[in-house]
Amino acid sequence: MTEPTAVLVGAHGRGSNMSALIEAGRNQESLFSIELVVGTKSTSPALELAQRLGVSTAVVPIGEEYGPRLVEALAGVTWVCLAGYMRLLPLEVLRNFPNRVLNIHPSLLPNYGGKGMFGIHVHEAVIAAGEKESGCTVHVVNEHYDEGSIVLQSRCPVLDDDSPESLAARVLILEHQTYKKALEKQIRGGRT
Ligand code: GRF
Repeated sequence: MTEPTAVLVGAHGRGSNMSALIEAGRNQESLFSIELVVGTKSTSPALELAQRLGVSTAVVPIGEEYGPRLVEALAGVTWVCLAGYMRLLPLEVLRNFPNRVLNIHPSLLPNYGGKGMFGIHVHEAVIAAGEKESGCTVHVVNEHYDEGSIVLQSRCPVLDDDSPESLAARVLILEHQTYKKALEKQIRGGRT
């Protein structure tokens, strides 16, 4: 059985992890299929990209009853992947999808995670600390930023002449390879 999965994107998300998941889900062997992409704003580049890729989209604006409205929009899917979604997820969603919401973060958590640690700030902090290694982490989402249990990590070197941008580009390639594997790992785990 293929698990119907939704991707949640942010208002300004590029959607590169989303499109990597869409593509992976179209592989015949895949355990999941991206059936829906949900955003908070119709102008989100990621939502426009999802439409071009032929995936159903929904816009659930932030505001009153955001949690219940989001749960309603997610009816029919069994897994939810955050990709560039920058907010804490409403508790209603976490309750409806226990251990079935994943997020990807561009560092080796628990390092360089938490509030304010997103995008280029993560890579700036990694370089400023003189780290020799970085990478990405897929984790289960809970009510705190970047704190749920870790599903899968991938590592890459930090080079002496790296800028935050060059490191971000290296980590992003890893993200695209890692997210699909992590989702399949969780799906398999839930079936045994
Ligand atoms: C990624 O770096 C991801 O780790 C973080 O937000 C970024 C989203 O990028 N959570 P994209 O929209 O998937 O290209």
